[in-house]
Amino acid sequence: MDRRLLKAAVSARLRAYAPYSKFKVGAAILAEDGVIYPGGNVENAAYPNGVCAETSAISAMLQGGAKRIREIAVIGTGTKLVTPCGGCRQRIAEFAAPETLVHVCDPKGVRKTFTIAELLPAGFDKKNLGRR
Ligand code: THU
Repeated sequence: MDRRLLKAAVSARLRAYAPYSKFKVGAAILAEDGVIYPGGNVENAAYPNGVCAETSAISAMLQGGAKRIREIAVIGTGTKLVTPCGGCRQRIAEFAAPETLVHVCDPKGVRKTFTIAELLPAGFDKKNLGRR
């Protein structure tokens, strides 16, 4: 994985807003345009309104003018892997190819790399809408 992507995810995690869970997560997307877009989780006193790091990074990518994810890194701490939640898998898949890589990291580096298809097998996408 590109070291720049890890660095961006580490910085994004430090800027995350997670006063309730105290569990900061960072994400960084290398987009089709070669630009890296960061995101962090943004929690809220009304808990369900919190947003995940991956979703923030997707928003930054779209607002930066890119639409496709080349690779994404997600970073958190702890003994277990910080893999994207179900909703974020679905959101990543919307802007990625099945073979797009999702790097699950901790501050030291990549712990495990998955494809989005491995994380979201048999996902729902625009083809499932059955429209022509
Ligand atoms: N979280 C993320 O931002 N991304 C993940 O992949 C997993 C969970 C956030 C949501 C919440 O702010 C905190 O981590 C604890 O669940």
